[in-house]
Amino acid sequence: MSVNHLDKDAFKKKLSRFDLPISNDDFEQAFSARLLEYAPELERLFGEIYEDKFDDKIFESLLYKLATNFSTRSAALKVRDQVLLHEEPWYLGHQQVGMACYVDRFAVDLKGLTQKIPYLKKLGITFLHLLPLYQSPEGENDGGYAVSDYRVVNPALGDMEQLRLFIEECNQNDIHVVLDFIFNHTSDEHEWAKRAIAGEKKYQDFYFLYEDRKVPDQLDPFLREIFPHVRRGSFSHRQDIDKWIWTTFNSYQWDLNYANPDVFSAVMEEMLFLANTGCDVLRLDALSFIWKDPKTNCEGRPNTYKLIKALNLCLRIAAPSVIFKSEAIVHPDNVVKYIDPQRCQLSYNPLLMGLLWSSLATTNTEFINQSLSHRFAIDRQCAWVNYIRCHDDIGWFFDDKDADCVGIELNQHLAFLNDFYTNNSANHFPSGVSFQDDPSIGDQRLCGSLASLCGLEKAIEQKSQIQINLSIKRILLLHSVILSIGGIPLIYAGDEIGMLNDYSYLKDPTQSHDARWVNRPIITEQAISLSKQENTPQNIIFVGINKMISIRKKLEIFGNVATEIINTKNRHLFVYRRIDDEQKLIAICNFSDLPQALEVDNIDLVEQDEVYVDLISEKDIKIRQTKLLHLSAYQVMWLYKS
Ligand code: GLC
Repeated sequence: MSVNHLDKDAFKKKLSRFDLPISNDDFEQAFSARLLEYAPELERLFGEIYEDKFDDKIFESLLYKLATNFSTRSAALKVRDQVLLHEEPWYLGHQQVGMACYVDRFAVDLKGLTQKIPYLKKLGITFLHLLPLYQSPEGENDGGYAVSDYRVVNPALGDMEQLRLFIEECNQNDIHVVLDFIFNHTSDEHEWAKRAIAGEKKYQDFYFLYEDRKVPDQLDPFLREIFPHVRRGSFSHRQDIDKWIWTTFNSYQWDLNYANPDVFSAVMEEMLFLANTGCDVLRLDALSFIWKDPKTNCEGRPNTYKLIKALNLCLRIAAPSVIFKSEAIVHPDNVVKYIDPQRCQLSYNPLLMGLLWSSLATTNTEFINQSLSHRFAIDRQCAWVNYIRCHDDIGWFFDDKDADCVGIELNQHLAFLNDFYTNNSANHFPSGVSFQDDPSIGDQRLCGSLASLCGLEKAIEQKSQIQINLSIKRILLLHSVILSIGGIPLIYAGDEIGMLNDYSYLKDPTQSHDARWVNRPIITEQAISLSKQENTPQNIIFVGINKMISIRKKLEIFGNVATEIINTKNRHLFVYRRIDDEQKLIAICNFSDLPQALEVDNIDLVEQDEVYVDLISEKDIKIRQTKLLHLSAYQVMWLYKS
């Protein structure tokens, strides 16, 4: 990325012609050095993206904004930048364990959240994703994903100063805070949208506004409908201005027009404002949609990647310790395109998520083995964020060639999965809710809390202790994978205490059309006290997850060590190993509700005369004498040797 000396000198000369507010203090001099290192690449990318719309004046103004935003970064954060930049990347370590939560649903407000820090520490959480907490429209606001002001915290939760203090306290407690950066769209109540509605041309050019259906009719056939139950097509008619507006998601979420360099520059300032709150990670929401190329599906376009890289360069210059997490819930070939130290250092792993649910439904692990055997490895300076479910629906993004390899016809398989998880018959354990099914293209997604999808809800209704036990085992099995396979495990708040589906959304007219609310339960005092009572399912789940987290924290093998998927002859077992110079870990996960055996010879790297300890059962296993490993229904073994 850095330029050679000649170019550097030329660039230095150019910078000296710009009028940039950079003082002589040490921090600003370090800023200057970063500017010299990264800005030439930024200029090059801008030239490529904006072509003749780009000139020195625009570039100077962009650099000016970088400098002014850096000067408002607190001294404490500037020190943090220096410290983090000189350490091993924290996000690659085995200490990291994540949680995602809605502030109000988890802790009422920011004050309540501060009081939860001891709980988070007890569980071992070091990576806390706060789902959007910015000002957004009253009533419907897509769970906060329609932002009206990035600089204002939703008053029901607190204010910006409280957020800053909360983040500071988290940092003192070794918790890295992740904030959402929702930059594909703003709400229609954002200042920019309001000024567009008022007729200001400058702000109309921030969005995609059309007088009539001519352009929308040309583009719609190419675009994916994200919420087909809410509205067909990707454009919404706005009556007060009698215009059609590009709205990929809901009609009140207006897509920003990145072909306009002013949009990049304005959005970059909002990004730096958020980076200056002290958070360590910005979650790039819906990033694959940001660039529109007419007559394409407008997802993951070449300029999308360039824009992400350009935003990353801005961070490197003006808030260098902050990193990006990619939220690309798309085909696995495209997910990995965002993962790069120069784009997003972290990425959700939607493929693993889907494959976990697929393996649980079929009890067969051939598909997960096949897919992950060539899709799990990523740049060693980047990390997966492994999750089982999140605040959204479960969307299925598999590769059909991988499916083909193991004899799965993908469309039939997806229909099977959707039916398996949403079919309410007594002999199916899950209680899932279908989401945005679109019979015209056979698309369907799935909602449900982790515990309900694993069968705890039905088991409790049926008062079946056997089923309760099985559901707990499923919950622990899935958590065992995200905690050990490599990357940052991300738990959705409440899953650690087996929260069930919350159907109260059906009574709220602002939520009833959006089944994702079923899996965003409010963590009540009652739920917490159940999890503290010994031997309740909630308690067993909490203790089980807590124990696996503690094991992870003790051993570096759970950190930045490559993962290899092992194909055994048993198609119910998912087996992977992680080996560094000093330690070995072999995880064996039984996805079947029946006992399974594994011939030790099938995990060929195990040296036959060694003694391993199963970290989960704490039993020693002498491999040479054992020959066959026996696993009960849904049992997991973490065989470890140092
Ligand atoms: C992301 C969010 C989702 C939201 C969408 C639009 O996918 O996770 O909740 O609806 O973006 O912002």
